[in-house]
Amino acid sequence: MKLLIKNIAKLIQTEETPRSWVAGKDMDQLPILENAYLLINNDLIEDFGPMSQCPKGDFESIDAIGKFVFPSFCDSHTHIVYAGSREIEYVDKIKGLSYEEIAEKGGGILNSAKLLAQTSEDDLYNQALTRVNEMISFGTGAIEIKSGYGLDVENELKMLRVIKRLKEHVPVIIKSTFLGAHSIPMEYRGRQSEFVDLIINEMLPQVVAGDLADYVDVFCDKGFFTVEDTERILMASMKLGLQGKIHANELDYSGGVQAGVKYNARSVDHLEFIGKEEIASLKGSETMPTILPGAAFFLNMVCSPVREMMNAGLPIALASDYNPGSSPSGNMKFVISLACINYKMTPNEAINATTLNSAYAMGIENEAGSIARGKKANVFITKEIPSIEYIPYAYTSNIMDTIILNGKVINI
Ligand code: NIG
Ligand code: FE
Repeated sequence: MKLLIKNIAKLIQTEETPRSWVAGKDMDQLPILENAYLLINNDLIEDFGPMSQCPKGDFESIDAIGKFVFPSFCDSHTHIVYAGSREIEYVDKIKGLSYEEIAEKGGGILNSAKLLAQTSEDDLYNQALTRVNEMISFGTGAIEIKSGYGLDVENELKMLRVIKRLKEHVPVIIKSTFLGAHSIPMEYRGRQSEFVDLIINEMLPQVVAGDLADYVDVFCDKGFFTVEDTERILMASMKLGLQGKIHANELDYSGGVQAGVKYNARSVDHLEFIGKEEIASLKGSETMPTILPGAAFFLNMVCSPVREMMNAGLPIALASDYNPGSSPSGNMKFVISLACINYKMTPNEAINATTLNSAYAMGIENEAGSIARGKKANVFITKEIPSIEYIPYAYTSNIMDTIILNGKVINI
């Protein structure tokens, strides 16, 4: 079955020859075709071009006069399988406690772990499904989801099975990441390396045997996991065929960026603390620096020096970090606004960072992130809007008109 979208005012992020990512100065260039058509064949993009070459035929069609068509956002870093919510800590934060102080009190990630252990797999699935559906309505068409609130063998596997079930049932592309090393359980405090042993010897082999993860992650930061812990986990995972996606340098210059690059991680994420050494190590690597403006906003943290990174020729990806503690939102349009307002990224840069570059950050650059022939037909049509810049500018307006996933219109 073919679907034709015609009279598109602007078709965004078109590619004749697909690229893996865009970097440095090129991030401000966004390929746009005006007065265009997009032809979808089943679940794939078949063709696109100017209206003067629009194919004729008996297609189902959508008229997009005055509207823009985008490739769906790719959200390459989330923790959306969790139980309940943590607004009580949010109030603690308002009253002055820091993220680390809350974690030291047994709050934070450990709080979510306690709740998750008491929640059934079905309930967890349904809670996550509600979040996925909301993200779809915001224009997201691909989501990376991490475990990490299990913190023991049974509950980590439970989380990963929920992600696998989502993969099989939701219309968005899902990638799964095993984040056993998210926090140190109370009973392992003071003997952290034994918890790392448990991750390597007990959890990892079962994760791989059950085909439950595409990537592995470690929270390599002050008060959490060390560079040595991180390298041990990355080494063991590499032997089992799992690539890294590392939480790094959110709380300090943790060495996480260098460790990630050394083990050829797909991405290093957060990056509030980035200096010359981190930039030098990322240069020439295949590791995507990923910024999470929602977490920095919610925790009132310093902003990552993205302009310095782009000036050095690096690419940047943006993701929501949707999680109950530091970023309870999966709205990628708001992430774009935050990137523009707080990080001084241009709208073009932010759009490249939430489509093509974030697709690379989750390993799906060949199937998503741009309008290219043969890629998955995951796109959204905006309402009538005046310009690209209007999108981050109108930072709470809902600009979504029609969501298309796998070539099918989704009711939102
Ligand atoms: O990416 N930094 C580590 N992990 C999450 C927070 C998870 C939580 O607080 O529940 C993050 O911000
Ligand atoms: Fe995270």
